[in-house]
Amino acid sequence: MRRRRIDSYDRAVVTGDELREAMRRFAPGIAVVTLNAGGLRLGITVASLVSLSLEPPLVGVSVGTSSSAHEPLREAGQFVVNLLAGDQERVAQHFARSGVPPIALWSGISLRESPQSEPQLEGALAWITCRTRDELDAGDHTIFVGEVLSLELGRPGAALVYVGGGYRSV
Ligand SMILES: Cc1cc2nc3c(=O)[nH]c(=O)nc-3n(C[C@H](O)[C@H](O)[C@H](O)COP(=O)(O)O)c2cc1C
Repeated sequence: MRRRRIDSYDRAVVTGDELREAMRRFAPGIAVVTLNAGGLRLGITVASLVSLSLEPPLVGVSVGTSSSAHEPLREAGQFVVNLLAGDQERVAQHFARSGVPPIALWSGISLRESPQSEPQLEGALAWITCRTRDELDAGDHTIFVGEVLSLELGRPGAALVYVGGGYRSV
């Protein structure tokens, strides 16, 4: 398959700040990716979740290479996408904080019972368990392509989205 790549790195026609400003007008849903890398349990808030394919079922998340979750995510080879509900802004803020020691990350966070080693956040709209099928270099991020191994639906209801620099329940 032919791949077309428009490379603006050298020309620097658009800055990261300009792209960020435009993307503030977009309203992605918010999820928390949780993982267990040999006993190290982490979670990271993401707005980059995308449904990639239905047959086979694939999703993608883009994670910054400088994120403290990046290497553990690679090592784990598996992750859970917790789709946040409209009333879970506090959870989204919690897992977007920098510099929280992994041991303190889970205090005050309700987890649901699960036979899996990845933490699953109580109150989410759905939990999607993925095995990493591909890691795609995407500039200062890596796109993790996850093959969906299993999923469970939680309560139906409003979703949490991020737009204009703030959270909304829709
Ligand atoms: C609404 C929102 C969406 C975010 N989406 C992503 C994302 O898709 N990918 C990513 O790598 N970081 C994303 N982040 C940033 C991470 O949640 C986190 O703040 C960052 O990895 C810093 O953690 P660290 O200091 O432990 O590396 C997002 C943050 C917010 C507030």
